[in-house]
Amino acid sequence: MSEAAPLLALRGVTKRFGGVNALTNVSFHVAEGEILGIIGPNGAGKTTLLNCVSGVYKLDAGSIQLRDRRINGMAPHHIAGLGIGRTFQVVKPFQSMTVRENCAVGALFGSREAHMAPKAAFAAADEILELVGLAPKARLPVGSLTIPDRKRLEVARALATKPRLLLLDEVMAGLNPVEVDEALEMIRTVHGNGVTIVLIEHVMRVVVGVCNRVVVLHFGEVLAEGEPGTVLHDSRVIEAYLGEKYAQRQARAEKRDD
Ligand SMILES: Nc1ncnc2c1ncn2[C@@H]1O[C@H](COP(=O)(O)OP(=O)(O)OP(=O)(O)O)[C@@H](O)[C@H]1O
Ligand SMILES: [Mg+2]
Repeated sequence: MSEAAPLLALRGVTKRFGGVNALTNVSFHVAEGEILGIIGPNGAGKTTLLNCVSGVYKLDAGSIQLRDRRINGMAPHHIAGLGIGRTFQVVKPFQSMTVRENCAVGALFGSREAHMAPKAAFAAADEILELVGLAPKARLPVGSLTIPDRKRLEVARALATKPRLLLLDEVMAGLNPVEVDEALEMIRTVHGNGVTIVLIEHVMRVVVGVCNRVVVLHFGEVLAEGEPGTVLHDSRVIEAYLGEKYAQRQARAEKRDD
């Protein structure tokens, strides 16, 4: 008997912008139920990768499969309808609407049940806002939200499309340590509800805290892949991305733990 296909499989994914090789021959998979981290320096191709998976960009070469279905070449709304939700690195809510309305829009237009009635969409939105901890702020205009709450809303809007795979692009950026802890809790809750997650992250505490596996991108290529404990100790990853300071801090922390 053959093993079930991974939830998502990228093979030889290549994307160029003029002379810039944003992604070159990128291959990896995402198993159902895992939290996979994507890390790497600025400009490594992380957001481009998410844009390729969600159909915003067409590939120059390679393929992307959701289970046994090839999704590269499909329109973004079609891919969303197949169960891939995403956030954007630059948050783009509808400013004039309330938190609840913003979330309901996601439920109305992103759902596989294409003709969801507004009442059902609001009910779905209320459930999701509860899940991400935004229920007390449901009636506020989006413009009044703090940065961490905007990030929560962004996750809520993605969840409203009922994804089985959620792609998060730097949802911890700009948060203080307490807010990072709260956001980590939110990710664990979402994951606990059966959603597979791929997250792009610069905060290593998050990567170590929730990711089962990590893929390191460097100049658009996969530099390393594996469990966080192994990958974050890899000398090539330290040299290309984490830096000597991180390695020294880590070594000191491990000494203390002995
Ligand atoms: N639409 C575009 N047009 C032209 N070049 C682009 C476009 N999008 C990305 N690039 C280039 O592709 C490369 C990868 O960019 P990308 O935004 O994917 O990096 P990133 O890893 O997400 O970086 P960051 O950590 O800063 O968000 C960069 O050189 C970037 O300038
Ligand atoms: Mg990016």
